[in-house]
Amino acid sequence: MKKVEPILKVRKLLVRFDSVCALKEASCDFKAGTLTAVLGANGSGKTTLLKAIAGLVPVTSGKIFYLGENVTRLPPHERVRMGIQYIPDRARVGLSMTVEENLLVGAYLRKRKEALRDLERVYDLFPDLARHRKDLAGVLSGGQRQMLVVGRALLSSPRVMLFDEPFLGLSLSMREKIVSLLRELKGEGLTLVVAEHDLDEILPEADEYLVFLNGEVVMSGRGGPGEVEKLKRRFRQYYGSGRSCGNEG
Ligand SMILES: Nc1ncnc2c1ncn2[C@@H]1O[C@H](COP(=O)(O)OP(=O)(O)OP(=O)(O)O)[C@@H](O)[C@H]1O
Ligand SMILES: [Mg+2]
Repeated sequence: MKKVEPILKVRKLLVRFDSVCALKEASCDFKAGTLTAVLGANGSGKTTLLKAIAGLVPVTSGKIFYLGENVTRLPPHERVRMGIQYIPDRARVGLSMTVEENLLVGAYLRKRKEALRDLERVYDLFPDLARHRKDLAGVLSGGQRQMLVVGRALLSSPRVMLFDEPFLGLSLSMREKIVSLLRELKGEGLTLVVAEHDLDEILPEADEYLVFLNGEVVMSGRGGPGEVEKLKRRFRQYYGSGRSCGNEG
């Protein structure tokens, strides 16, 4: 049987910020059309991994392959053009621009006709944004702004979406909306990478997980609703065995 190549491959990735080594030769794979949860405590390297894949932090050494191509040294806009989108936590929107203007920023590298077609899809996905399309983005609630950020990312026609703590600061109902959005995006064949502190919300949705500790992958496995308790048990055994999680105190 033919082996399916992962859409994204990270090899021995080292990212150093002055004296801090945020990633220590981390290696991992991401399969096309799957959701991978990237878990780990504060400062474990999750954001650095996502940003390095998107080209937003300088890589000291190691390689990132996307669709078989070495993209490690490509500028961020080239990676956006190729289909890689990073969605930061607490992302900013242009408050003095309308909702629609904000959305179209995401489409700046695309043909106008295609972008306008996708704009309607984003409005179907997020009726709140459709309702406010001509209003300044400043009128949106926190959750609606998060939707705007995701909508803006979708307008670049991504194949890989790197979500950095998408549930952060959102109400329960907004978090549920994010979960159904992730399911929908996966259903459309997108590859999703979701960094989170807590596994309760994301692990049931995930096909696979990675756990980072001090810049290294220390655990990996299969996700799904039945895996939450198993992984919590694995954590207890791991940390109970004297391993430090760095900043859990
Ligand atoms: N721009 C930077 N300059 C200096 N150090 C940095 C920078 N960005 C990250 N670091 C350091 O790199 C390490 C990894 O940080 P990173 O933000 O990747 O962790 P994280 O897992 O995303 O944490 P959190 O859960 O708090 O978001 C931390 O020690 C952090 O202080
Ligand atoms: Mg982070």
